[in-house]
Amino acid sequence: MNRTVVLAYSGGLDTSVCVKWLTERGSRVVAFMADVGQGDPSAKAIARAKAAGASRVIVRDLRREFVADYCWPALQAHAVYEGKYLLATALSRPLIAAHLVDVAHRLGATAVAHGCTGKGNDQVRFEVTVRTLDPRLEIVAPVREWEFKSREEEIDYAKRHRIPIDISKRSPYSIDQNLWGTSIESGVLEDPQAEPPADTYRSIRAPERAKGAPAYVTVAFSRGVPTRLNGTAHAPVALVERLNRLGAAHGIGRSDLIESRVVGIKSREVYEAPAGTILFEAHQELERLVLDRELLQFKQGVAGDYARLVYAGLWLTPLKRALDAFVRQTQRRVTGTVRLKLFKGSCRVVGRSSPYSLYRERLATYSARDAFDQRAAEGFIKLYGLPYEGSGK
Ligand code: ARG
Repeated sequence: MNRTVVLAYSGGLDTSVCVKWLTERGSRVVAFMADVGQGDPSAKAIARAKAAGASRVIVRDLRREFVADYCWPALQAHAVYEGKYLLATALSRPLIAAHLVDVAHRLGATAVAHGCTGKGNDQVRFEVTVRTLDPRLEIVAPVREWEFKSREEEIDYAKRHRIPIDISKRSPYSIDQNLWGTSIESGVLEDPQAEPPADTYRSIRAPERAKGAPAYVTVAFSRGVPTRLNGTAHAPVALVERLNRLGAAHGIGRSDLIESRVVGIKSREVYEAPAGTILFEAHQELERLVLDRELLQFKQGVAGDYARLVYAGLWLTPLKRALDAFVRQTQRRVTGTVRLKLFKGSCRVVGRSSPYSLYRERLATYSARDAFDQRAAEGFIKLYGLPYEGSGK
């Protein structure tokens, strides 16, 4: 009997060619499509998998799980890689990998496959997650092995095997998209000096051509979870979709950076994350209001480590899980409302409130209502500086 391979299938050229390539080598291929908000897994993509030889196509709508169990924890941890990347692609990989393993188990398959290249991060994220969950599953990475040297050769192969590829819709970039953001690379972007041309960005308007009037949006959080926009409750997916539209119209959430990949190289990456950008600003500001100094500053130190673990495919590892437990504990008082002003690419917090606010106007004010005991400061400073007296000479 042929072995069964469950392939993480996107509907694009690479994974369609993977289907055929694997069947030609004697495997029965099940194409698994995860909907993480990249746009509907279209009937066309399903038909393409079948045409390429997939014995079965399985589609799962993972949008809610993605937002609630992957994006929200990353938001709460303030996970931003190298200061500029909100990790949209990186967050989706462990989720897709976990479902890949689940599908394999249900079907009694002995192998899984993905369409990642040998120099990206995604192969690392898929494979580490799969092996963390089931080290007995064989992992096949056709793109790392096969003979094609260029996209043209792949297209020839697809044509020869009557795989219906939509070459007209081909973008000059490599794009990965989900609810949390879009990652765009290659093509002209490979020149780090070149400004991304107008066709680079998928959804976010150029700030200079964004709406001419500012918009205000109020985001309410309950224990660190965004729950309402402008007073109206939304389920996680709907909330992110709405903020994506709003932010995109105001030119918010673009980034362009040189990034350090897991495999050791630097690469030029362009990202879009409108909702994530707005939510990060809002969530960080709410924490400034409700977390005490020690917790707030310690947590800021954890954010970079958390981001590195997510980026590097270590989502299910003990350290990452321990940091999750820490972050979860910090969110107990992260309840309140943040008001932001969106205008031509900028997203600024203009107001914040919380039942757990640590801000006391009567202590902070410079007006006559001041209740702060200024004379107590003298003794405080004397003892506070005591260890250092004379040591600067
Ligand atoms: N460099 C990003 C990351 O490692 C994005 C990779 C996305 N892949 C793509 N086909 N554009 O998370």
